[in-house]
Amino acid sequence: MEVLIAQDPAEAAKRAADAVLDGLRRVDGHRLVLGLATGSSPLGLYAELAAAVARGDVDFSETLGFALDEYIGIAPDREQSYRQTLLNDVCKVIGLPEANLNVPDGMGAARAEIAAAAAAYDAKIAAVGGIDVQILGIGTNGHVGFNEPGSSLASRTRIMRLANQTREDNARFFAGIGHVPTHCVTQGLGTLREARRLVLIATGAAKAEAVAAAIEGPLTASCPASVLQLHPDVVICLDEAAASGLRNREYYDASALGFQVTV
Ligand code: GLP
Repeated sequence: MEVLIAQDPAEAAKRAADAVLDGLRRVDGHRLVLGLATGSSPLGLYAELAAAVARGDVDFSETLGFALDEYIGIAPDREQSYRQTLLNDVCKVIGLPEANLNVPDGMGAARAEIAAAAAAYDAKIAAVGGIDVQILGIGTNGHVGFNEPGSSLASRTRIMRLANQTREDNARFFAGIGHVPTHCVTQGLGTLREARRLVLIATGAAKAEAVAAAIEGPLTASCPASVLQLHPDVVICLDEAAASGLRNREYYDASALGFQVTV
């Protein structure tokens, strides 16, 4: 686990974009597959990726995108749906074609239909050869995607009830808490762990507790993001505020200096 602590959110976004591009550079011989997160945290990262596109360092016009999650009951053409959010905030920004964007389907008529679509989503990720780099944010309660505390560390894409804290955190995008959906479809922790590289970005003091629990706490379903400890290629990019709860700070800073042989 690589923990990079930047002075401010802008620098954290640059580091995270570098980690994404690094992961994508390793892809050899197949179409790039990028896992996309919603939320405010990765917006700077997407802007940095757009800058990389403008410089000619990368091109997402052939890339497949897979969203982490979607609300149940919000039609995909509504502004608050994660499909629309990703189209506006990510696809248009980095030049990933709408036709290449995959988002879980939260609009089935019955639970069984949504559950079947969720299983098919997992199968689709597997069919394209898996996700090369998965971008992640973290919820104030330690969720990744919408895997709320208590999620099985082996879970697959499925229906989840949203925690009250998550609904409160996300009420700012709706006309009040009463309008925030109660359920979602999210990639499972077992699903997202299969991505070849995970890049998590978190900024601001509100994330400090969740970040510390994810990186330095026990591996536990009570902090779903702690599942990252099981992954062999994780880069976590933080600003000072989000890093403020970490105990091993000195070690992360020293590690970030790179490899040196000292005799
Ligand atoms: C939502 C998303 C998560 C995201 C989290 C944090 O609940 N499902 O994928 O990481 O919010 O959002 P923000 O970055 O806006 O704090």
